[in-house]
Amino acid sequence: MEHTEILTWLRESDTGRLGELFERADRTRQESVGDEVHLRALVEVSSYCRRNCAYCGLRASNHRSNRYRMTAKEVVEALVPAAGYGCGTAVLQAGEDPELAVSYFVDLIRRIKGELGLAVTLSLGERSSSELQAYRRAGADRYLLRFETSNQPLLDRVHPRLRSDRRSRLDVVRELHDLGFEVGSGVMVGLPQTSYDDLARDLALFRDLDLDMIGVGPYIPHPFTPLGANPNPLAPGRQVPSDVTMTCKVIALARLLCPSTNIPATTALATVDPDGRELGLSRGANVWMPNFTPRRFRERYDIYPGKAAPQHPEVVLAGVHTALARLGRHAGTTAGTSAHFAARQRSA
Ligand code: 5AD
Ligand code: SF4
Repeated sequence: MEHTEILTWLRESDTGRLGELFERADRTRQESVGDEVHLRALVEVSSYCRRNCAYCGLRASNHRSNRYRMTAKEVVEALVPAAGYGCGTAVLQAGEDPELAVSYFVDLIRRIKGELGLAVTLSLGERSSSELQAYRRAGADRYLLRFETSNQPLLDRVHPRLRSDRRSRLDVVRELHDLGFEVGSGVMVGLPQTSYDDLARDLALFRDLDLDMIGVGPYIPHPFTPLGANPNPLAPGRQVPSDVTMTCKVIALARLLCPSTNIPATTALATVDPDGRELGLSRGANVWMPNFTPRRFRERYDIYPGKAAPQHPEVVLAGVHTALARLGRHAGTTAGTSAHFAARQRSA
């Protein structure tokens, strides 16, 4: 699929035509990765961050944020029930918290793999090369780092670079590949000042980066951020909207462009629409990441507002399995390594 065809789909508003796109994506999903939905137990380890992204509530300058940092013991305890609930993977997510030393994550990775038998995915932002290498050596399987938008001048405005790091965010994504991680990336859909052309280029980049996982969610304004307070979008008709349909278009096109990759139906999608998760899963997605962060911390991981009220994992997982049954799908029983990654390993 070339740029103009991607662009045409992104601008399509006819519901009949869009229905065809979504059905095609669902069929491709079934043929390429099957009916299993892989469950990933997400723990939001720390809400401290050294960066100042203009869109994110965890930005260092948001002094109204009530920060927390979990101990390794708290993280392991939160993950103990995960396997029993059908999750084959733990996802450790955090802001770029300088206080969490390499030894903290190395120890955690070893314990989660050794004691709990789960695959480990990290989502810890732009870490130094030596740090990433240490995590890979400790046994971390996967790494998620969204490139957020392929519009580099825009990214540099809303995600200021650190003087201490010469690498671009995309350089880090490529480095993750070289280190042997299964690599996930993605974008926020409808970030103010992204055009349809930008989004079409994002999709082509998913394919060119040879991603094993593609995570996309709608941009959700946070009132205590510069972008939330002053969005300054492009003119109507040029600005990409940040709604559920546009996000589903991106999921569906990502599935068609990268058939065997793993694609989650994200929490942000479920936040903008109560049916968002189910819509994502029936339009190309095959991964669900239930949140296992202890409830006393959950509301403080305040990237964007409006997340559903925290519930006990037992309640969440009962809901997950009911929703999957309704969709005619079932939870995965393996670690859920991406079929794309597995094929790449075989041909290497
Ligand atoms: N709305 C939606 N997603 C956001 N992220 C950060 N801020 C927001 C927001 N306001 C996403 C970014 C980041 C991930 C951890 O959260 O894509 O990579
Ligand atoms: Fe930090 Fe990530 Fe939020 Fe940027 S998006 S402020 S790096 S947590």
